Amino acid sequence: MNRIYLDNSATTRTDDRVIDDMILFMREGYGNPSSLHSFGREANRAVQEARQRVAGLIGAQPDEIIFTSGGTESDNLALKGYALANGRKGGHIITSSIEHHAVLEPCRYLEKIGFEVTFLPVDEFGMISTASVEEAIRKDTVLISIMHANNEIGTVQPIDAIAKLANEKGVPFHTDAVQTVGRIPLDVSNGISMLSMSGHKFHGPKGVGALFVRKGIRLETQMHGGGQEKGVRSSTENVPAIVGMGKAAEIAGEEFDAESRRQVRIRDMIIDGVLESVPRSFLNGHRSERLPNNAHFRFDFIEGEGIVLHLDMRGIAVSTGSACSTSSLEPSHVLLATGLMPHQAHGSLRISLGRFNTEEEARIFLDNISEVVSILREMSPYNENNPIAPGGDQC
Ligand SMILES: Cc1ncc(COP(=O)(O)O)c(C=O)c1O
Repeated sequence: MNRIYLDNSATTRTDDRVIDDMILFMREGYGNPSSLHSFGREANRAVQEARQRVAGLIGAQPDEIIFTSGGTESDNLALKGYALANGRKGGHIITSSIEHHAVLEPCRYLEKIGFEVTFLPVDEFGMISTASVEEAIRKDTVLISIMHANNEIGTVQPIDAIAKLANEKGVPFHTDAVQTVGRIPLDVSNGISMLSMSGHKFHGPKGVGALFVRKGIRLETQMHGGGQEKGVRSSTENVPAIVGMGKAAEIAGEEFDAESRRQVRIRDMIIDGVLESVPRSFLNGHRSERLPNNAHFRFDFIEGEGIVLHLDMRGIAVSTGSACSTSSLEPSHVLLATGLMPHQAHGSLRISLGRFNTEEEARIFLDNISEVVSILREMSPYNENNPIAPGGDQC
């Protein structure tokens, strides 16, 4: 069976051109970039070239890029590293209620050690208003961290306006751009102070990421050791992965506009197709301010997990991007923040596109989704005559 992968917000297929470059550095370019001999110098050159490519994708200077192990580490370094270097174990941080756990958990940790954190609400489309950021800023605010686009519902935040505001108020602004780097245009010269990215979200390898840190910003290292990455992030560089991320950045930069338009076309085909063909289906997130690769729906009377499993049996990989994860029975904090009831959050499904998806795959998905939803609704105890009573929903 030819399988169809529509879960590119979870991770993407590594591009063959990336793999080719990485293999070279696993087989032959295995030197330690800190070594003085030719093996080391070659590896070091490759790391610096990758740094240039990653910087080029977001309009940064190469020496403003710190390589990390992924988006989670980049977020941790930005939040804890900045707060600990500049907040003197106290101060106020502003973030949003729909951030990824890689931002929410460091914020909770900082709360425990004496910082105060404001988690801003969002509207029904998952949008954060710049006015609410402005209202939240206090004299002791040390950092603002608002994600560029949400990984579940795909809503893209007004980060240019928030960066401008933060600059006017003299507060550094960090953005988690893990879902947007390589997908929508980004230029840190708009006043962003720190920006997190992750290689595996744009057809690069897993286990490598980067943090853009504007010149002059001080971070407390979260990894003490040999002093690599300007002393901010010690450990021997993962050269093949860094090279792979650099290549992925270069490809994304070259193919950017055409690829983004192509994905928007397929995304809209999926959104229109589902809303037209599946009764009682609704779009989550914003209609226009959304990632080019994200479609996120809610279906009345059934659960997202059921849809995922049925589609998987038909060879189509999608995600709930919401409801109960394997480790927790809580509905998605993002969907609840947009005002959905827990049972509505549980009926949600995320389809996320990547470079290798085609219109034909979207058509196959559309053919299958209406059938799967009908099958599940026939089995569901809930229907129009017997909806879940408000307050009666369980996770
Ligand atoms: C918005 C966002 N931030 C952070 C992360 C974590 O990135 P990584 O898997 O590279 O640690 C993810 C991954 O899903 C994400 O979507």
